[in-house]
Formats: sequence, structure tokens, C-alpha cells
Amino acid sequence: MKKPSALVRYLNQYVIGQDDAKKTLAVAVYSHFKKIARSREATARIAKSNVLLIGPTGTGKTLMCETLSRALEVPFVTAEATSLAQSRYVNDEIEAILQRLVDRADGSIDKAQSGIVFIDEIDKLKAPDGQARSISGESVQHALLKIMEGSIVKLGSGQYIDTTNILFICGGAFVGLDRIASQTHTYGYISTSKDDNPTILDRLNARVKPTDLFEFGLIPEFTGRLPITARFQDLGKKMLVRIMTEPANSIYNQFRDIFRSEGVELTVEPTVFEQIADLAVEYKTGARSLRGLFEELITPVLYVVPDDPRIEQVVISSLFTEPRVVRRERSA
Ligand SMILES: Nc1ncnc2c1ncn2[C@@H]1O[C@H](COP(=O)(O)OP(=O)(O)O)[C@@H](O)[C@H]1O
Ligand SMILES: [Mg+2]
Repeated sequence: MKKPSALVRYLNQYVIGQDDAKKTLAVAVYSHFKKIARSREATARIAKSNVLLIGPTGTGKTLMCETLSRALEVPFVTAEATSLAQSRYVNDEIEAILQRLVDRADGSIDKAQSGIVFIDEIDKLKAPDGQARSISGESVQHALLKIMEGSIVKLGSGQYIDTTNILFICGGAFVGLDRIASQTHTYGYISTSKDDNPTILDRLNARVKPTDLFEFGLIPEFTGRLPITARFQDLGKKMLVRIMTEPANSIYNQFRDIFRSEGVELTVEPTVFEQIADLAVEYKTGARSLRGLFEELITPVLYVVPDDPRIEQVVISSLFTEPRVVRRERSA
């Protein structure tokens, strides 16, 4: 079993920034799997602590869960709370999610039973005023509660799956949460003396209170099942540049690989990543727009490269100038 610090080191290879969330999630996941291991020995049932991830879109919530499940070698699926609310039969949808988990586990019910399910858009269960969801957000929460607490679900295949040890992670942007929270924290969370550590006090004050989540339509029983919260921060320009260039599987490295397989050295200069990051910041979709912007830049080049074996190098130095193409001398 990987320790929390080892999980964070693994995450660091793929997920840029979000250091607090990495630690919180690593510890949560670690204690979850520790509890499972211990409950196999002990007879006492230990209550499960599911996790709530709060943060803007495109900041790495899904990526972090997916990467963690890879580190732990457990099956992983994602689902959206909003599509549960739009379906007519929420239990059929839930059954389908669990079926996908079994599929990810190559059909092994046993493996699926210690998998991870990430349910996104949990903050959008509340129907906008005057609009009706097919089924109410509240009944979705009750259905989710049942499987989060642990129940036996019959799958379409006729097999049964026990959800007791499945880790449920919920996510949402919770737009406006800080405004709500600042209205409810009118003074210090706790009385302070000068010996108190200001960092710890800040952390307590920044805590998301269950009552803040009620505003988003989450019912007390549901928030009660999500005792751990991790906040994801907006990604700034610097972070976006790092996302494009740093991870082993970064967009830049992926395209360098493609070009290398054509015998071409691709160089994209730092200015270009800054220009792309500037645009992405404007689009306000976190890191989501990076790939599209980068591919738009590369597509015209990748269109000509395979046709011309003499090309040995391509240098892109700005979004707004033509790439420089270097060809080999024609051999005699
Ligand atoms: N912190 C990050 N580090 C590296 N890549 C990221 C990060 N945040 C987002 N991305 C990139 O953006 C894409 C969308 O991120 P995702 O995890 O789905 O965001 P969220 O679930 O928070 O909306 C990911 O596939 C990944 O390529
Ligand atoms: Mg996501």
C-alpha cells in the first residue's frame, strides 16, 4: 500500500499544482484503503469517509482522481450528477455506473468492489428556479447516499455488487461558494490568542461548512456523507505553461513524439506557451482549452511534414508567425 507521500509524488508527475488538494486526497484515499484492509481482520465496521472536491472547471479534479486510481491500481469511473437527475430511472443509471466499474475491472466484481467512483457536477443538482428536473435533485442524493453508505446492487448481468468499500468522490465548481461562506463567517471561526498559528487559523476559516453547501441544494444527510473536502485553485498562466510542457505525457511531449516518428525535431519556443496560456486564461475553462489551441497551431505543420521526407526540423516561435521549417540538403 503506497503511503500518502508516495501517492503525492506519483501525482506530481501528472498533475501540476493543487498541492493542498493532493495531500488531502492522498491521505483520504490512504486511510480509506487502510480501513478496508483492517476491517477484513477486525469485526468492527468502520464508517467510510467519502470526499468532496470543490473547484473551478478544468483545474484537475477528474485528472487527480484518475491518476490516483492508477497509482493504486484500482478501477475508476466518472459520472455526472446532472445526467442522473435528467434520467427517468435513477437506479438504472446508478446500476450502469457500477457496471462500467466492473467492466474497468475486466469483469472482476471483487476488484470493482474496491474501486473509485467520481461523481461530478454535484453542485448542479438543484433545479434552476422555475425549471423542473426529470427527477428531483433530492431523490438523486438519496439514491447516491444509499450506494455511498454501502448497499448490494443487482447489475443487469444478474451479478451482485457490494458498494461498501467503493470510494465515492464527489466534485463540483460550487460557483459563489466563497461569497456564501464570507457571509456566514462574519467573524473569526474560533477565538484566537496570539500564540495560535495563523496558518492553521486561516485553514479553519477557509473550511467549507456543510451549511454553505445547503445553498446548492445539498441535503444534510448528503453533506454528512462527505466529511472531507479538498479545494482546487484556479490555474494561473504559469501553471498552464507548466501543464503544457512539464508532465511526461504533456501535450508538447506527445507532439514531439509524433514528429520524432516522422524523423523531425519539433521545437516550440517558450513564448508560444505563454501566448497559449494567455488565451486559455481568457477562456476561463482552466486547462481544458490548452489542447485545442495547441493542436490548432500544430495541424498545418503536421499536414505537410509526412509528405516531405527532407524536413528535419520545425521551429515555432510565435502563435502569430509562420513556423520555420529546416530541410536536409538533397543528397547526391
Ligand atoms: N492541475 C493540472 N495539471 C495537469 N493537467 C491538468 C490540470 N488541470 C487540468 N488539466 C488538464 O485539463 C484537462 C481537464 O481537466 P479535468 O481534470 O477534467 O478538470 P476538472 O475535472 O477539474 O473539470 C485534463 O485532461 C488535463 O489535461
Ligand atoms: Mg471533471
